[in-house]
Amino acid sequence: ENDISSKLPLRGKHILITAGPTYEAIDPVRFIGNHSSGKMGFDIAKIAAQNGAKVILVTGPTHLFVDNALITLVRVKSAQEMYDACFSYFDIVDVTIAAAAVADYRPKKVAQQKIKKDDTTFIIELEKTKDILASLGKVKKNQFLVGFALETENEIEHAKLKIQKKNLDLIVLNSLNDKGAGFGHDTNKVTFIDKNFSIQPMDLKSKEEVAQDIINKIIQHYA
Ligand code: CTP
Ligand code: CA
Repeated sequence: ENDISSKLPLRGKHILITAGPTYEAIDPVRFIGNHSSGKMGFDIAKIAAQNGAKVILVTGPTHLFVDNALITLVRVKSAQEMYDACFSYFDIVDVTIAAAAVADYRPKKVAQQKIKKDDTTFIIELEKTKDILASLGKVKKNQFLVGFALETENEIEHAKLKIQKKNLDLIVLNSLNDKGAGFGHDTNKVTFIDKNFSIQPMDLKSKEEVAQDIINKIIQHYA
């Protein structure tokens, strides 16, 4: 092939990316969710595709969209739907990057009708959702597995525990401590920690630049 795209570093690689929040239903009109915009995952998908990878982007509810023919967008709502979608693609991918802010708990019972208010306190019983990334880590073969970690204390120690618990190759530790990082900002301060516990702190950057740094790690892995 003399096509220019054949020279792209991730040509022929399949990358699964999760993005956005998940919505866990309480009743037909209400849910438990979080403020994830999905931007980090969508930016990673864009940069991966620009480097020639075929991308499957599994996203929770977000207004973002994609316009690259190399990206297949799969829209889901709940953690269970995201789990099912990820498992249906995992066998055929080389790399998985879990950027979604998956709900850790969901209502144990979903009311079939809209819940009516009364004069008493309303308690919702919650049960744990499945950990998608940890479940993929249990069955992974050659897949390069990248997770995110959001911590507010003992950051490095907690992130290392997540690498081990989820059988990851790389974790992207997100710092909330620094001004202008985390939810609701377009900048992130991240630290890369690999499976050998080598630690690489990065500067405060735009999400798109962080996405480029993550994709560079993948490119290095295959170089
Ligand atoms: N993750 C996942 N499925 C879940 C929960 C988390 O795939 N049910 C993934 C996230 O996409 C992220 C990583 O696991 O890549 C870590 O998420 P995080 O919320 O930081 O850690 P948890 O393992 O959920 O632990 P905790 O929230 O208690 O710190
Ligand atoms: Ca969590």
